[in-house]
Amino acid sequence: MTKIHEMLNEQFNFEIESAYLYKAMETYVDQKGMKGFAHFFNVQAQEEMFHAQKFYDFMMSIDASPKYTGIPEPQAEFGNFKDTFAAALEHEKEVTRRIKEIYKAAVAEEDLDTPEFLHWFLDEQREEEETFRDIVERLERIGENWGGLYIFDGQLAQRPAQG
Ligand code: FEO
Repeated sequence: MTKIHEMLNEQFNFEIESAYLYKAMETYVDQKGMKGFAHFFNVQAQEEMFHAQKFYDFMMSIDASPKYTGIPEPQAEFGNFKDTFAAALEHEKEVTRRIKEIYKAAVAEEDLDTPEFLHWFLDEQREEEETFRDIVERLERIGENWGGLYIFDGQLAQRPAQG
């Protein structure tokens, strides 16, 4: 495995780990009766599996066999709803950091295919960070107001399924 193949494989597994984390967040908010928030995290988990599939497909196309490396157990408690989405935002920032590291390493190795493949992810990460930032900001304003929380829960229930 080349260094870039290793980094791609690590990110392939990290996307699956991201899906697992969002499934844990789904469960956490679902247990607190927030069906819309739970739906949002479920769709997010599906998106992460879609991201993993993109890495898988790209790796296959450059003859770099994807290898499954195991997924750490995600945390089960995330604090209040704002804290939960803030943890998701922090996770997305880490994903962005990792994608940029692969990009820079590929450029340094004069690998022309990987940066082109990663452009889609750079756009996607900007969008994902913006989405979570907006949600955290809204939850900060809503605070402990249950009326506001239920209205927002209903809004996040409208997120279209990945597909
Ligand atoms: Fe696959 Fe949310 O980054």
